[in-house]
Amino acid sequence: MLSRPIQAFIDRDAIRNNVAIIQKLSGSSKVFGVVKCDGYGHGLKRIYPALSELDGFAVLEIEAACYLRNLDTRRPILLLEGFFSAEELNRCLEFQLDVVVHSEEQVELIEAAESSKSLRVFLKVNSGMNRLGIRSDLVVRCYNRLERCEAVNFVTAMTHYADADVARGVDRQNINFSASLGSLSLTTSKSNSASLIRSGSKKENWVRPGIMLYGSSPIADVTAASLGLKPAMTLKSKIIAIQHLKAGDRVGYGGTFTAKSDMRIGIVAGGYGDGYPRSAPSGSPILVNGVRVETVGRVSMDTLAVNLTGTPSANVGSDIVLWGEGLPIEELAHWANTISYELLTRVNRRVPFVCSD
Ligand SMILES: Cc1ncc(COP(=O)(O)O)c(C=O)c1O
Repeated sequence: MLSRPIQAFIDRDAIRNNVAIIQKLSGSSKVFGVVKCDGYGHGLKRIYPALSELDGFAVLEIEAACYLRNLDTRRPILLLEGFFSAEELNRCLEFQLDVVVHSEEQVELIEAAESSKSLRVFLKVNSGMNRLGIRSDLVVRCYNRLERCEAVNFVTAMTHYADADVARGVDRQNINFSASLGSLSLTTSKSNSASLIRSGSKKENWVRPGIMLYGSSPIADVTAASLGLKPAMTLKSKIIAIQHLKAGDRVGYGGTFTAKSDMRIGIVAGGYGDGYPRSAPSGSPILVNGVRVETVGRVSMDTLAVNLTGTPSANVGSDIVLWGEGLPIEELAHWANTISYELLTRVNRRVPFVCSD
């Protein structure tokens, strides 16, 4: 039975390739692959078989962490925001999860824990991002409190970079991080994808790349291809109708595109209801039978239009790539004034996912 032709194709070999590239950049550091938000929208269950070379996993959702622990009794699983209650902390102990501790409230919960088990803590230092993390002047005190806890068997110091992808870089945060630790000599975890790409692992014990795993570069002037990364997701569809326009005809809601001369356009099964960004303006890149053309008019919930004037062989049934292989997702994200992370995590449930093997 034929069905609406849009699909998200997941390439596990691309992920394996990307893991190998991450490992090269990471040197002797161990790698937590960041697989929060259902593996950045790719489907954790779907991509798990491609992650066998990672040293551990980092997630946000405790359900995902427990799911991974059931699949994998050996490798570390880090909860990136730790636990939100005493009950969750008990679950972390039971499932042997590593936990980020970013607040004094979490330190108190660990102090109050009654368990014969213990876990590893990643003490998160606020080194300048001012999102989550312990204030610099409280870090040593929190560390000392954690060290005394029965429920804690190891403490690693970690931080997260705000500017690793831009010129400001990571130096200021590294200075703050070191200063916060004073004379403590702890194992560390700092790097995300952007800092790994810019400068490799900073002699830390654990790096935490996310977006690279999925084949996308977080840095505007460094393409994923130049790093050898391959896209793990390709959003594909087909042309489902053709329209012939006369000069002056307009396209789509609001008629934001007007044909300057006679032209042929294709209507693609794909719109913002599938996760294609409505903010992508006329002129955004898209592939028709592997050839780069431009979108025209506003993106609708279920369809968008492409200019076929220069590709006369394209017709109903022609293949479309909305992003992925042959069309880096970063390019579309740039046109749509967003980032690849947002596009990847917003593919709608109605889109069928298909996997390579
Ligand atoms: C704490 C933390 N570490 C690592 C990452 C991975 O970042 P990226 O996907 O940019 O490599 C994230 C992602 O947001 C994060 O929140």
